[in-house]
Amino acid sequence: MEDISFGKLKFKRNGILASGILGTTGWSMAKVASAGAGGITCKSISLNFRHGHPTPVVQAYEHGILNAVGLSSSGIDHSNHELTIVRKNSDAIIIASVFGGTPKEFAQTVEKLDHTIIDAIELNISCPNVADEFGLPFSATPESAVSVIKIVRPVTQKPLIIKLSPNFPKLGLIAKACEEAGANGITAINTVGPGMLIDIDTFQPKLSNKRGGVSGPAILPIAIRCVHDIYKNVTIPIIGMGGITHTEDAIQMIAAGATLYGVGSGILYNGLEIFTEINQGITDFLAKKGLTYQELIGISHREG
Ligand SMILES: Cc1cc2nc3c(=O)[nH]c(=O)nc-3n(C[C@H](O)[C@H](O)[C@H](O)COP(=O)(O)O)c2cc1C
Repeated sequence: MEDISFGKLKFKRNGILASGILGTTGWSMAKVASAGAGGITCKSISLNFRHGHPTPVVQAYEHGILNAVGLSSSGIDHSNHELTIVRKNSDAIIIASVFGGTPKEFAQTVEKLDHTIIDAIELNISCPNVADEFGLPFSATPESAVSVIKIVRPVTQKPLIIKLSPNFPKLGLIAKACEEAGANGITAINTVGPGMLIDIDTFQPKLSNKRGGVSGPAILPIAIRCVHDIYKNVTIPIIGMGGITHTEDAIQMIAAGATLYGVGSGILYNGLEIFTEINQGITDFLAKKGLTYQELIGISHREG
């Protein structure tokens, strides 16, 4: 497959490792790249060290995964060191995922990343805005999403990708506001929810945090609908993720409008081979249909 353009970035392969899965150490990220991922997103980084929630933080069920890791982070300086290891040991595009409690905290972290070896920055704005009266995430409204981008945009030359949550209405308008504020790409979606699972021996919620975000196969239709909505509203490229475990899922995501597909939970279901399997599956599919990769992107929006 030829290189795929995502704005100014050129990806050698079209699968992306989603943030939060095997994205903490340089060696685990390099391993995912050598297994076939064209881009690697690290676990979201904060300015300073954060513990996250106590265990249990992840619970698998038949159709997906519930998690409330609580945005644990080793802090920007340690994460930078790990990202250097990925650069030296892989040809993948490196996307640094960043989160903060305030727009200023986002900007401070991004500023520190601007002169490093990473290729792009993903703003995980699904985290709560600590200044919001109800602790709503920044991705909840166009205004709060833009409040982060406006402060971050001037402090970096790197491409800025905004990661959106499926849990709020008017996703298309939120994405459009992000584009107008200077975003170079959108990643969709983060986890769905919150959800809860209960242990029927103790009758207590299975996660220490009680509630968590849902990922994996259960959320595929929600993710595809979100990417479809976003594609209709923006001209910047999209990384589509949420529930992808097979080639057919990734093809649907690209047909909905994603330029690249992302996998997180799918690795837990199908192992690291998932990237090579899907890439080969897409190549075979395109040959069978007589389509180019570019023609597949957003094809569901064109009249038959
Ligand atoms: C255990 C776990 C940890 C995650 N941590 C992050 C994170 O740090 N930052 C982020 O933006 N998304 C995080 N996510 C969300 C994923 O990146 C992805 O958006 C979501 O899981 C949907 O994709 P999937 O169904 O392929 O997993 C996490 C997901 C899981 C399952």
